[in-house]
Order: sequence, then C-alpha cells, then structure tokens
Amino acid sequence: MAAVVEEIPSHLRGNGRPITEERTVTDLKVIGSIPPELDGRYVRNGPNPLSGTSAHPFFGDGMLHGVRLRDGKAQWYHSRYVQTPFISSPSVDVLDPSVMLDMRSSKANTHVVGHAGRILALEEGHFPYEVDADLNTVGPVDFDGVLTGSFTAHPKICPVTGEMLAFGYSAFEPYLRYLRVAADGRLVQSENITVGGPTMMHDFNITKNFVIFMDLPAVFDMSLAMSGDMPIRWDDNYPSRLGVLPRNGTDDQVTWYDINPCYVFHPMNSYEDGDTIVLDVARFDHIWRESAMDFPPPRLWRWTIDTATGSVREEQIDDRAAEFPRVADSMIGQRHRYGYMMAMPAGEQGDPATQSGAILKYDRETGSRSEIELGRGHTCGEAVFAPAADAKAEDDGYLMTYVYDADTDASRFVIMDAATMDDTPVASIELPRVPNGFHGSWIPSSVAG
Ligand SMILES: [Fe+2]
Repeated sequence: MAAVVEEIPSHLRGNGRPITEERTVTDLKVIGSIPPELDGRYVRNGPNPLSGTSAHPFFGDGMLHGVRLRDGKAQWYHSRYVQTPFISSPSVDVLDPSVMLDMRSSKANTHVVGHAGRILALEEGHFPYEVDADLNTVGPVDFDGVLTGSFTAHPKICPVTGEMLAFGYSAFEPYLRYLRVAADGRLVQSENITVGGPTMMHDFNITKNFVIFMDLPAVFDMSLAMSGDMPIRWDDNYPSRLGVLPRNGTDDQVTWYDINPCYVFHPMNSYEDGDTIVLDVARFDHIWRESAMDFPPPRLWRWTIDTATGSVREEQIDDRAAEFPRVADSMIGQRHRYGYMMAMPAGEQGDPATQSGAILKYDRETGSRSEIELGRGHTCGEAVFAPAADAKAEDDGYLMTYVYDADTDASRFVIMDAATMDDTPVASIELPRVPNGFHGSWIPSSVAG
C-alpha cells in the first residue's frame, strides 16, 4: 500500500517550519558589542501553529520572540506563545463565524507594541492580548469594556502626543471603526466610519492633524470561509480610495480620494506638507486574485494627496521588490527622510540555502537607496530602528532583526548601524532558530519596565 504523502504548505517549509517548544536562553553568545544605551526588549511576533500546520500563514498561533538588552548585555532570549483560547483548545476552528465574532478568540500573531506601560500582542480581527515584561500572557484587553470590536495589528503611536491611533475592521457591520487611545491607555474615541463594504484594512496612516484610511479591493467573501480558505478575495469592481479624517473627527468629516486599484498592507510613513499629504507605501498591483497566496512583488510608491484639488499623484519610487517598511518611531506622522524595508530575498523560492536577504535604506531627500547585504543562505525579517544615545540625526541609531542562516539552521539577533549601513553588525547574538514572522518593536524599559 502506498504511503499517503501530505504536501507541506509552502509557508511551513524552510524557516517557515514552526518550532515545537517555548525557549528560555540566558547564556547568549555575543559577537561585537551591544550599545549600552539599549535598555529594553526587541520583541517580534509571528505565526507558529501549535498543531504543526496551518492552512494559511495568517492562521498560525502567535508566538513572541524577544531579546532583553541591558547594560551592554543580552540578558535573555524568550519564545512564548500568546495564551489565546486556541492554545488551550487547539481544535477550535478559526473560520467558524462564532469564533470570528468572539473578540477574545485572537490568534495574536501579527505585531507587538508597547504603549502606556503595557505590551500588546496584536492581530487585526480581535482584541489585543497583553503580555508582561517576560512575554508571559496577561490576557485580552478591552480597554475597560469600551472596545467592543476588533483592534488593528498596526496602531500608530504619535511621538508628539503619545496617543495610540487605531481602527478595527470587520466582515460584519459596522465594517470600520476609528479608535483613539489616549497617552494614558484609555480608549477615548470609538467612531463608526462608513465604507463601501467589508474590506480587509490591514494598516493605516497618521499625520500631525489627520488619519488616513486605505479602503482597497480585498473584500470579504464568506463562501470562501465555508471551504476552509481565507475568506477574502480581490474584487475588480470595488473602488480604491483613501479616506482623510481629522484625528479627533467624526464619520461625516472623512474626505475620500480615488486612487488606482492596488493593495497596500503596509505604509512606510505619512506626513503633511502644505496642502498635500504624502504617503510612502509598499504597493502591490493586486493581491489574492488567483488564490489567497497570490502576492505579486511589492514595491515602494509615493502617493501625494492634493487636498486643494482633490487629486492624488501616484509615483513608483523603486523597481526593487521589498516589504515591511518602517521609519524611526520618532518620525511617525512627521516628515521622514529615511525609511527601511526588507528586500524580497533573491534566489530560488523555497530553497533557503540559495536565498540572500538584505535590509534597504531609502533616503527620500536625495532619492538614493543603500543596503545591508546578508549574504547567500541568510535571510531576515522586518528591520526595526532604535535611536543611539544623544542621537543628532534621524538615522543615528540601530536596525534590529532576526537573521536566519540556512547552513546552520539557526538564527542570530543582529544590531546594525543604520547611519552607515555597514554589512558587519554592531552586535550579533546567537540564538536557536527563530522562524519567519511578521512585525516587531523595540520597547524601551521606559515604556514597559
Ligand atoms: Fe502587517
């Protein structure tokens, strides 16, 4: 009798393989020297299916991977599942409508941020999950009962006011809510926003005076959920629009601007410039037209909204395929000069040994691009910026990420010089294998202990 060979989904091959246990490592080998001003935690979230498999990368159970830095030392590496209901009851179906509507039933697998003394693990369909300074789960957060729906994985923390501006979208009405969390952690505004239908709104933008929603043609189709697939597909008939709302505004104050069809998971940053609003974004021509793994190459684009004429200029900035754009947290909503992206790895898809990753740095003032090359067999994730002590310039600081080495099947946490973009890390900390993931943050001790 022939053995039944199950096809392993592509997102679970190579460094997509989940790890099978939570780890605590305190005896960490460091090459180079850790800048002593870095006092805090780099924490990154990502899917790590407890069962060993998942139908889509977005469905895996959230696992946090963190490194604690202090006094020039790496005190620990922790990997911890976020203790959601799926960990205690692994057979629960993520696509069951009653589970989708239970706001505690988060996979908590997408991002992690520090705000108002709390560390929040985030996934866009449900409540945030709070974790403690060691990354152990505290529980779901509903902001003292004020939050009644989902909370995005991509809130924006304003470096000027300390507010955490956010939103939540849903397959069911109300399709979109604007959420404003005060600097002290209270949810002080929850505002229903009228959109054309139920769309997947992954991220958004803030400026000094506005938030900007991206209403794009990735729409819910619950018939797909019935077949066990991602319940969202591309819709050529759904218009693409940007919605500009004053930060303390109401639904009737949103101004919508038409743009060409596209999808953006992640903006790099946005800011106001006179009568214009500038948004740098990682733009896809489309997503999920053929299947839920249909991802054409994303590239950096600039949108410039002219609020006086109502038009939007759309310019492709670079041919290089790249995603996971970030700026320094201190520049969010401000006019940035520098942005950082993860280059889509060169080499054969699905063969980590042939792939070579890179971190890109865009200078939006000169138009130039520089890069840190990681070398063959080495790939990285999103690069997160942390400022140097007494930083004088916007790029005076460090880029942090996990780097996977296919030769050793292990990972390193690297701290790179963001100003020089030197290929040699300032410090490199040897770790067990950290699987591919999504987003992370540098959370200084001043924010979360
Ligand atoms: Fe994201």
